[in-house]
Amino acid sequence: MTERTLVLIKPDGVARNLIGDILARVERKGLTVAALEMRIAGADVAGEHYAEHAERPFYPALLEFITSGPLVAAVVEGPRAIAAFRQIAGGTDPVEKAVPGTIRGDLALDGQQNLVHGSDSAESAAREIALWFPNLAQS
Ligand code: CMP
Repeated sequence: MTERTLVLIKPDGVARNLIGDILARVERKGLTVAALEMRIAGADVAGEHYAEHAERPFYPALLEFITSGPLVAAVVEGPRAIAAFRQIAGGTDPVEKAVPGTIRGDLALDGQQNLVHGSDSAESAAREIALWFPNLAQS
């Protein structure tokens, strides 16, 4: 079943010139970039995106990081796109969880500055795509 997921290349990925590497991995997996935008996230969008983490101790630092510079937001489409992107991203902790061969396992060290975000469920994907791409037609 074709799905859509929301992918962010976080400010660390943009600053490290990894946009091309990360998008190449998405495309080589067989997924399609259906929408793409570089922008600096405002506190409003960032806060809403990470609302589920609002009570976590790392939330203020996470918001500061995610709004600290340009990021790339993308809608990625394909069969089982939500799970497929999370597979190629690797676990949240790039050292303890993400295995070599994944974006985080190959390219990151830090649990917060971990290069990418991918929606974790169909509900999250619908919410996040509507948040980042309000003008995109629903599929
Ligand atoms: P992401 O997949 O975007 O979802 C929540 C984000 O919070 C996560 O990636 C990390 O960037 C960040 N995060 C998760 N856990 C921690 C943690 N223990 N300390 C700092 N940042 C975290």
